[in-house]
Amino acid sequence: MLRIEQLTKRFGANAAVDNVSFTIDKTAMIGVIGASGAGKSTLLRMINRLADASEGTIAFQGRDVTRLTGSARRKWQSECAMIFQQFNLVPRMDVVSNVLHGTLNRRSTFSTLFNLYPTEDIHTAIEILDRLGIADHAPKRAEALSGGQQQRVAIARALMQDPQIILADEPIASLDPMNAQIVMDALRRIHEEDGRMVIANLHTLDTARRYCDRVIGMRMGRVVFDGTPDQLTTGVARDIYGAGAEFSEAATSTDINALAEARHAVTA
Ligand SMILES: Nc1ncnc2c1ncn2[C@@H]1O[C@H](COP(=O)(O)OP(=O)(O)O)[C@@H](O)[C@H]1O
Ligand SMILES: [Mg+2]
Repeated sequence: MLRIEQLTKRFGANAAVDNVSFTIDKTAMIGVIGASGAGKSTLLRMINRLADASEGTIAFQGRDVTRLTGSARRKWQSECAMIFQQFNLVPRMDVVSNVLHGTLNRRSTFSTLFNLYPTEDIHTAIEILDRLGIADHAPKRAEALSGGQQQRVAIARALMQDPQIILADEPIASLDPMNAQIVMDALRRIHEEDGRMVIANLHTLDTARRYCDRVIGMRMGRVVFDGTPDQLTTGVARDIYGAGAEFSEAATSTDINALAEARHAVTA
């Protein structure tokens, strides 16, 4: 489905992504982990074509998307929706309008200019918000919502594009453990129920282990691990993060597991 071959992105002399190759054969939920600066965001940005590759190719379902321009590039960008750590909503605009922004790629300049959304699209937006448990917030300004709710609005905006791939760049890095879990659960459910591929850069090991079918570990622009969560042992993690014996899993934990256990204890 998605084939990355010898992909490189250089910023001056620095290779942010350095000769990366991997193939995703079937729709899966993939976690990309690695220390800050490892090249995770640059990799996702190249896939989405927010950044141009210096070398190499990105192909989806046999189609080379590496050098698309103009409307072909925009069409590809709507097929692989991106979600960011900081949500990237329009804060003063209402929630439903933020979600409808996900249809921008296929609307005329005229209707965009005058905020004319087809009724059908408005219904779809509300349905998606409902699915994510936040339909009640539809008329509110985005800035009035909590971080976890805002990230779900961003997911709704992505779903509005009906994308085949969802690219999430550290989607829970700004959230507390409970909201982190809600957002990760939503992404997992979207993957399982809709069959969409999810590729998420994750800053914590436990989240990658818990939610992903496959984990790709990056270090200094290169892929240094590609395997199942089971294969991601503490020793392997130490290599990925380039840490010494002082490496602690706790430093790369969101405490989602701890939260789940605490909840379990309360309900047991
Ligand atoms: N626009 C840019 N200009 C120059 N260097 C950049 C730019 N974006 C990223 N880099 C560099 O590329 C490397 C990888 O960055 P990034 O992809 O953001 O890593 P990560 O997301 O894993 O933290 C870093 O050394 C970073 O400083
Ligand atoms: Mg990053």
